Amino acid sequence: MTKRVAVIGSGYVGTVVSACLAHIGHNVIGVESDNAKLELLRDGRAPFYERNLDQLLEAGRQAGRLGFTSDMALAMDESDLVFICVGTPSRPDGKADMSAMLEVAQAAAPHVKHPHTFINKSTVPIGSGRWLSSVIEDAAGDPRVTKLVRVASNPEFLREGTAVSDYLHPDRVVIGADDPASLDDIVELYQPVLDQSFPGSDQRGPVPLVKTDLMTAEMIKYAANAFLATKISFANEMARFCDLMGADIQTVTAGIGLDQRIGPRFLNAGLGWGGSCFTKDVLAMVTTAAEYGYQARLLEATLAINNDQRHLVVERLLRHLKNLRGARIALLGLSYKPGTDDLRDSPALDIATQVIEYGAFVSAYDPVVKALPAGLPVRIASDAYAAAEGADAVVVATEWPQFIDLDFARLRSAMKGELLFDGRNCLSPTIVGAAGLVYEGVGRRVPGSARRLAIDLRA
Ligand code: UDX
Repeated sequence: MTKRVAVIGSGYVGTVVSACLAHIGHNVIGVESDNAKLELLRDGRAPFYERNLDQLLEAGRQAGRLGFTSDMALAMDESDLVFICVGTPSRPDGKADMSAMLEVAQAAAPHVKHPHTFINKSTVPIGSGRWLSSVIEDAAGDPRVTKLVRVASNPEFLREGTAVSDYLHPDRVVIGADDPASLDDIVELYQPVLDQSFPGSDQRGPVPLVKTDLMTAEMIKYAANAFLATKISFANEMARFCDLMGADIQTVTAGIGLDQRIGPRFLNAGLGWGGSCFTKDVLAMVTTAAEYGYQARLLEATLAINNDQRHLVVERLLRHLKNLRGARIALLGLSYKPGTDDLRDSPALDIATQVIEYGAFVSAYDPVVKALPAGLPVRIASDAYAAAEGADAVVVATEWPQFIDLDFARLRSAMKGELLFDGRNCLSPTIVGAAGLVYEGVGRRVPGSARRLAIDLRA
């Protein structure tokens, strides 16, 4: 059944939600206050890079099922279900900053004239659903609104770069609400996804549905991100062991990943995670736990290990080059992962900042990112070879597929030095070594290097 949906906030999550809900047959109105973004969206274009999103935005617009506005009154008037998709970044104390959510709730409240279910997509502290309904009731200034407002949680598990496909073909849909009517309404909204009956679906079979209460749904979102982050840090800790012992992490993770209780995914060792979610959410859990008198030791260690991985590059560069003052370091990849232009919490930027502090000169190439935040003196090159020109060392910081097929002999001849640090373990040590480069990975056994490692250990 076609629903009338408003999506407040047209960032990564909101734009994907709007485009996908229109694609599965609903009438969607996206709300965006930034004029430049609004123009692009109205034109059927996303204000950021995300695979397949522009096509869906354009199709939704042409079908007359998707529009964007800055007018909250209009959006509320034309919707029954309201998704809130605003950012909840970390505050300096580690807690989630709820100011954007407070602002939209206060802006929407006076326009509640008929029953609305507000559905939270943002990652919010447990209990925020109840908080949201109180904020809306207070801001409406009309006690009758209490009867018109219901609140639900529908956490998102979208990965940037595959967000459209993640939304349309999810591993599961989680819906949390304390009243059965909201639950049923949202289940109906998702029916085309749950039974994969929307146009163009490749019929992967029904999608599991988790129906639960509000708080449990909010907790599922945090627990999922915390587990994935912990899995990455676990792989990175094992990689440290491998470095010490002379074992190979790729084979170790393949070996344990075949155990179905463990599974092969999210075990890639390297520079650790970046992006807008994992650090923010794990940190929020740690600080919330502390507030309630519990020390979340596993999650603290997860964060600390991830942070250490960013220092690893500098340690390795120092080990090989001894002194970084005046050294030229080329970074391949700037975004926090391939398939996106997102620089938030990107390990590459952290590494650039660290080596610049040691006095190094940094050049960089990324297939998508063409500009960096002001104040970071990094020369952006037109391709990987131009970035490597005169470099003492090359660091692969993002595993863009393009880097796997580089002509490493050409890269080597552009460089002054010979070190290639593969921060994502995405290259073949044999191919890189055959081109005359010295390969360093994270916990990888490099052919012919066992002796050198043993010597390093004794030193
Ligand atoms: C993540 C969650 O996966 C998603 O469910 C949630 O909704 C938002 O946060 P995203 O940040 O888009 O999504 O990217 P993801 O693909 O999960 O990767 C996060 C980071 O972890 C990247 O920097 C990636 O390079 C790193 N990573 C991932 C590893 O270092 N090793 C791995 O094995 C997997």
